[in-house]
Order: sequence, then C-alpha cells, then structure tokens
Amino acid sequence: MKSVRMPVPGVSLGCDYNPEQWSPDVWREDAALMRRAGVDLVAVNIFGWSNLEPSPGEYRFDDLDEVIELMHAHGIRINLGTGTSSPPPWLTTLYPEVLPVADDGTTRFPGGRQAWCPSSPVFRDRALDLVGRVARRYGNHPAVALWHVSNELGCHNALCYCETSAAAFRSWLQGRYRKIETLNEAWGTSFWSQRYGDWSEIQVPRLALSLRNPAQLVDFQRFSSDELLGYYRAEAALLRKHSEIPVTTNFMVTAHIRNLDYWSWAPEMDIVANDHYLDHRLGDPVAELSFAADLTRGLAGGRPWMLMEQSAGAVNWQPHNLTKAPGEMIRNSLTHVARGADSICFFQWRASAQGAEKFHSALLPHAGTDTVAWREVLKLSETLDRIGEVAGTEVEADVALLFSWESWWSAEGEARPSQAVTYLDQVHSAHAALRELGVTTDVVPPDADLSRYKLVVVPGLYMISDTDAQGIADYVAAGGRLVVTYFSGIVDERDRIRLGGYPGAFRDVLGVLSEEFAPLKPGDAVTLSSDQKATLWTERLRTTTASVVATFEDGPMAGIPAITRNEHGEGIAWYIATKTDMSGILAEAAGLENTKSDKEVVRRRGTDRSYLFVINHGTTPVDHPARGEDLVSGKRVDGVLTVEAGGVAVVREEVS
Ligand code: GAL
Repeated sequence: MKSVRMPVPGVSLGCDYNPEQWSPDVWREDAALMRRAGVDLVAVNIFGWSNLEPSPGEYRFDDLDEVIELMHAHGIRINLGTGTSSPPPWLTTLYPEVLPVADDGTTRFPGGRQAWCPSSPVFRDRALDLVGRVARRYGNHPAVALWHVSNELGCHNALCYCETSAAAFRSWLQGRYRKIETLNEAWGTSFWSQRYGDWSEIQVPRLALSLRNPAQLVDFQRFSSDELLGYYRAEAALLRKHSEIPVTTNFMVTAHIRNLDYWSWAPEMDIVANDHYLDHRLGDPVAELSFAADLTRGLAGGRPWMLMEQSAGAVNWQPHNLTKAPGEMIRNSLTHVARGADSICFFQWRASAQGAEKFHSALLPHAGTDTVAWREVLKLSETLDRIGEVAGTEVEADVALLFSWESWWSAEGEARPSQAVTYLDQVHSAHAALRELGVTTDVVPPDADLSRYKLVVVPGLYMISDTDAQGIADYVAAGGRLVVTYFSGIVDERDRIRLGGYPGAFRDVLGVLSEEFAPLKPGDAVTLSSDQKATLWTERLRTTTASVVATFEDGPMAGIPAITRNEHGEGIAWYIATKTDMSGILAEAAGLENTKSDKEVVRRRGTDRSYLFVINHGTTPVDHPARGEDLVSGKRVDGVLTVEAGGVAVVREEVS
C-alpha cells in the first residue's frame, strides 16, 4: 500500500482562500491573521481561471505569484488549485457547446459555477492548457505542498445529457458490453419494445414519458462517474509530468451528493480528501458526520486522510442555515481527527462580501476578530497543535459496514416497492446504532477482505454481484457474524432480480426466503413480538434453516418472522426484515452490552502508542476509564477521565 505524504506534519489547520475577492492590502492583513490563527495550509486558485486567463490566450500570473510569495514568507503552505473548476465567461461564449444539458434537454447556463460538460473535448483542451501552465510555473515552488485538481468534481455537473455526452456514453457502453446483444440482455430491452439493433440508437436517459429503463439509468451513473474520473486523471497526469507534489481532489462524501463511485476514484488519489458539512435536513447530522468520516477513512484504505472543507458556522445553501454553538465546531473537527483525519480545513478563510456565498460562515467572519467565532478558531488551532502527535496513527475498528454507490443508485430507482425506503436511511440507521453502542465501524466496499472483522453489517445492499455475495457467505462460514437488513441482495449488477425468493443473494447465508414485500405507509407502525415498534417495511418471510427471533404481531404480516438468526458454518447471520431499533441485535452480534451513550469514543493506534478520543455530545459531564495524559487539557488521567459537557479529550494512553 502507498504511504501517505501529508502536506504538513502534525494535525494541520487549513482553509480555502479566495484572494481574488480582495485587494492586496487585505491579502497582507490576511497573511498576518492567518499566522495568528496558526493556519498551516491554504487552498488558493480554486476558482482562479478568469483571473489567470482573462481573455483567450492572455495570461496573468502576477496576483497569484504575489499571494503565493506572501504565504511563503509567512510560513504557510499552499494547497494549489489547478483553477479549472469554473470556466470563464469568454470560454462558454466562444464555445457554447461546453455547457451542460439537464435531463429535460435544456441547457444549464453560466452565471453559477461548474457549467461544463464532463465529456467536452473543448473544455478539456482549454482546461489542460491552463493546468500545464500552472504546473510549470508553480510545480517546484517550495511553498506548494499539494495539488488540488479542479474542485468537488461533479458537484453540479456530474450528469450531462448533451449530444457529446451521448456519444461518449455509447463508446463507454461498447467498451463494457462489446456486443449489442450483450447490452440488450443486460438492460432487459425485450421489455417495452426497447431492443437495440445498433449502438447509434442508444440515447442518454433523458426524461421520458414514462418510467425509464432502470439498468440504463444505472449504467449512465457508472459512465458519468468514470467520465469525470477520466477528467481527473488527465489533469493529474499533467501535474505529475511537471511536479512531484502529491495530487488530490476534494470528494463529497455527504448525504446529498451521490453521483461518483468513490471506491473507484480513491486509488487514484495521493491523499484522500473530503468535504463535509453538517446537513440539518437530516435527523441526526452529527451521527452522519461520523459516518462520512468512517467512509472517507474506508476510501483511504484505513490510512490518514484530509478534511478539505467544513464550515466554521452556518452554510448558506440549506433551507435553514443553523450556526454552530460554542464548542460544536471543535467537536466536529475532533470527531474527524478521531476517525482518521490528519488535516482539518475549512471553507473559507475570510467571509465573502459579495457573491452567492456572502452568507456562508468563515474562519474570519464579517464582524472581524472580536467575535466568538474567531476565538473558537484560535481554540481549535491550539487544540490541533496539542494533539499533533496523533498524526500518522490509524483508527482501531473491528466491525465493518458494507457501502456501495451502485446500490445507492439502483435501490432508489424510479419504480420501487416504497419511495419512503432509501438506501442512505438504512445505512445511517445501522451506523448510528453502532455508534451509540460505542462501536467504531470501518465502512468498506462489498468486495473488501472481511476476515479480520468480528461483525459485518449489511444495510439495504440491494445490488450485489455473485462474487461479493459469496465472499460474505464465506466470511460467515468461517466464523464471522453478519447482520443484514431488508431490501438487500435483491438484484445482480445488471439490476436483474435474483429469482427464487428474496433476499436473493443472501437467502442461504440467512436461512430465510421471502415471498413478497409488504411496505407500510409512512406514519404507520407495527409491533414486533419483542415489543419494539417497526415502520416502513414488512415482508412475507419464512425460515428455511434460521430460527425466529421476533415476529410481526400486527400489520399486514401478523404472525410472520421479522427478525431471524441463522447458524451458517462456524458463524451466525441475522436478518432484520423491517425498520426498527437494531441496537439489541447489533449488541448481541458484536458481543456487547446494549447500552447507549452520548459520548463518542474512538481509539487511534500507532506501532508504539495509542490515543483515546472521547467526545461528549451531551449536556452533562461523562466519565470514561482511561490512564495517561489528556493532550487537550494537559492533565494526567488516573483511571477515570471526566469530559465536561460538550467537551473533548484525547488521552495518550499508558500501556499497563
Ligand atoms: C463546497 C465548495 C466550496 C463552497 C462550499 C460552501 O461545495 O467546494 O467552494 O462552495 O461548498 O459550503
């Protein structure tokens, strides 16, 4: 495995910096203030293109030169954007064919950001021309510590339905299926008279009069992810030609963006980096943060990663943009560090006075430095310095949760048993239940080596290949413990139903067979024989080799098994056929007591040292057994660590 070369030693503090929005005297004030705040790394030139190339072929690097020199003089390292994330207006005026097209066939115009088609050869040529110039100019500058390709690739433009994309989609399909007959089989085109005689007949899946072909939609997702990855590769190859500095781009492992299959992207990154914002549209945004951090660590193969963006306070793009209470931003940051981040960066340094993001928080708010927000930044900076020695250590976890973007795309097809059942809800519920039990979970792909885990959790894994399903069954047969939840194992990679009863791929390992789904209306609940309430989903399940743990007491499936347990080889596999509190089953499967807590406890371990992170999300102090030194407070801990309400502790543990 590749070792990770972080841009700055220790646990660094960083931010996006957009000097284009300010005058040179503000740059100087900023550099001095950044130093005061202990900023180690700044991302510049993220949206730089229209400044660097104000008209076609006319280049101006003096401002960027000056900013880089200024940062260098202040001992601040540069995370250098290639500048290509948003094309300048001249480009889309000269080449309107670069503009993306939505699924209704209408063009998306400039005026926002990222208005480019991922398959556009014109865009790629012009962008790579700029990247080459930036790479040659700054690729060996001593301040430049990291390349930041574009920005959040696919945030807005992942799915483009223009004719250029359609042509690229066809050649991608030819690469995947070789013969048109194989594609016809894979897409099940005998249904609704969709049989293709020639590749040229295939379209991108624009909106249709009725439901679209689900296999075509899934392939379009796969294609779109690959297309942007191809674009990333082109920029990265050019950077590597001119420079030895590590290359990355910022992922969006988050609840509202799902278009890129980051399992295929991650191996291409020198450092895995993620952007994460608390999403107050979710039931439990803080639990989702922990999930996203665990998934990012999974993408990084367990090695340290960077949090490339988060917010100091409120964002501006949710319907109701909640700020962070004092202490909250520090808890958020330390949760990322606990779960493997060695760098904590923010969008952005100085709050914008103009533009679409003028109401987005920043490290330096509109009101300046005499503010609660600024004092929090200083406190975070000091905390990160104090815990710097945890950098390079890895997170300890013996439970895995399987996650798949392909399942996310396919499980949420246009026509499905219940629109109220979503993939992410199943994933989040399982992860949150483990977290409340105090379990640290690795989030891994369905083809991961599972042998070292004591428990593997498979929430709503709708699409799975034969090979991956076999790997999971073998893991159980060899003594592993498995918990699978409803709407799992239903289809193969072609989105073709696995016949013979649900949950298709997992029937044998779970020892059950389900004849029929019976989803519940949102708001309706049923009772289980274990006295738990359950919602959203029931099914006509029977056991083959499993034993029944709980049945539905009422509702459409009264008297039918709801939770089962199957001994398979040396191991045990549970099936949960409804949405209910999973903590009892998870605790039993993991061999733990079923007790929940507000404290988040995670351990990072190096070859000769270990660090215990305890984050108190509650409103009263919590105790935790520990011995060593709390790096945050500098105090010795002799057996019992007390963490104040809303506080954080990182104990360098003494081995007894
Ligand atoms: C990200 C983006 C940043 C900024 C931020 C606001 O999507 O990379 O440029 O827009 O969100 O939350």
